[in-house]
Amino acid sequence: MEQTLALIKPDAVERNLIGKILVMIENDNFIIKHMKSMQMTEPLAKTFYSVHEGKSFFNKLIKYMTSGSIVALVLEKENAVASFRKLVGTTDPSTAEDNTIRKLYALDKSYNSVHGSDSLENAVLEISIIFGD
Ligand code: RTP
Ligand code: MG
Repeated sequence: MEQTLALIKPDAVERNLIGKILVMIENDNFIIKHMKSMQMTEPLAKTFYSVHEGKSFFNKLIKYMTSGSIVALVLEKENAVASFRKLVGTTDPSTAEDNTIRKLYALDKSYNSVHGSDSLENAVLEISIIFGD
């Protein structure tokens, strides 16, 4: 079964939204295969988001993602990568569809509550970065 990597980001953990987001994930028929609470170190965040290195928002992104606890999840479902991106909604919550996690909970395009892998290849890579040993 296809897997994807999800993160509940610091802005959502801080606002006690873990439970509400997990309910949305389970109601959309994802199986939670692995889950852990953790705090990203700066080197881990830089590795995880290396694709964005050099972009204007990179330093702000690293500061944000290392600012507090996150919850990391491996989710399983048929077509998990695309299906979870749909549940997450667009990067900027002002353009996200109704009933997406970001529409309901994200603060803005920077502090947007959740991460979802954007391809099968990146899902495999991200799962190994976060859950590999
Ligand atoms: P993610 O990787 O976290 O699932 O988000 P995404 O695919 O929707 O967006 P992406 O382009 O990969 O950007 C990664 C994260 O960087 C922050 N960001 N801030 N202009 C900005 O201030 C800006 N643009 C992106 C967001 O936290 C975004 O989710
Ligand atoms: Mg992305």
